[in-house]
Amino acid sequence: MPLRRIKEGVYYVGALDWDRRMFDELIPLPQGTSYNSYFIQGTEKNALIDTVDPEKTYELLNNLHELDLKIDYIVANHAEQDHSGSIPILLDEYPDSLVVTNPKCRELLKNFLFIADDKFKTIEDRETLSLGDKTLEFIYTPWVHWPDTMVTYLSPYKILFSCDFFGSHIANSELYAHNIDEIHSAAKKYYAEIMMPFRSMIKKNLLKLSEVDISMIAPSHGPLYSSPQDILDSYQEWTSDETSNLVVIPYVSMHGSTKTMVEFLVNSLIKKGLNVKPYNLAQIDLGDFLSSLVDASTLVIASPTVLTGPHPLTVSNTYLINILRPKLKYVAIIGSFGWGSRMEDIIKTELSNLKVEYLDSISIKGLPSKEDLDKIDYLADQILEKHR
Ligand code: FEO
Repeated sequence: MPLRRIKEGVYYVGALDWDRRMFDELIPLPQGTSYNSYFIQGTEKNALIDTVDPEKTYELLNNLHELDLKIDYIVANHAEQDHSGSIPILLDEYPDSLVVTNPKCRELLKNFLFIADDKFKTIEDRETLSLGDKTLEFIYTPWVHWPDTMVTYLSPYKILFSCDFFGSHIANSELYAHNIDEIHSAAKKYYAEIMMPFRSMIKKNLLKLSEVDISMIAPSHGPLYSSPQDILDSYQEWTSDETSNLVVIPYVSMHGSTKTMVEFLVNSLIKKGLNVKPYNLAQIDLGDFLSSLVDASTLVIASPTVLTGPHPLTVSNTYLINILRPKLKYVAIIGSFGWGSRMEDIIKTELSNLKVEYLDSISIKGLPSKEDLDKIDYLADQILEKHR
């Protein structure tokens, strides 16, 4: 991304990554991503807010060379390498600059990047740093999504540089979020994949930020919000205790028995007026699937039995659901077996983080009979009753 002016003395100097398709070798990036970095020119001091993934250091340097200004402070809002990875090269290029961050981030940066002690300026929560005509305020926002995370607030422009908080994985030539539906979908996926396990901490941090007068949110992934209320409202909704009338059904089927059960359940739920999203785990879009869990009330895990346990695709996705801790209220387990199954116990053990009520499990031998389908219809009735 070329250098972009945001306000007088405030520039976007980061990079778009159109080609990246995976993050953490786990999270799909169908729309690529961006690593946003911002340069702030003050009358006395200049600061850079976050850097970029090491793969894109050359783009950041190109933008900084075009500006041709000194850097006094490199603010590290978060130590993860997609934002901090260029710091060592910047410290070589700008040897008089200091890395400004909190103690936790400092410790992580020393571990990950071998940055020397004398290159840091450590700040406290709500501490301010004058650049002359502009001031930075550092606000600790821990566990969004690491223990070190903080945001930086710029006066007098009221811009919140939020790093991962309010981010979205999307490479977009538009600097600002104009297509709200597209950005909302990307931001919700990002919340599901990165932020959802920390829902209660995010609530506390949203409350903390409600005291701050914010006119623009500039995250370190995805577009900027010149009208921040939309994304703030979305975060309030996603982190609330409210769930929607939605049943999510991740399933695997090897020879059709489990699929027959799932199709019957889906139709029965639809007839009863519930919203339902089945996901075939063998061909899943992980981002869509996890996004659906942000506000679903009920999860029905459907799996065939493999060597007395759930199918390995079920095991890995159940593990993921457990560590992401969606605010589900009800879970049911259904599936088929040939000669014996411990599937229900194994899945319930895997879901130990979830505080949910389990509905009746249905485990059938071979293809579902009329009586088995009646049990599935009864499960749909149970779900309907709970959603009421
Ligand atoms: Fe975008 Fe937690 O790094």
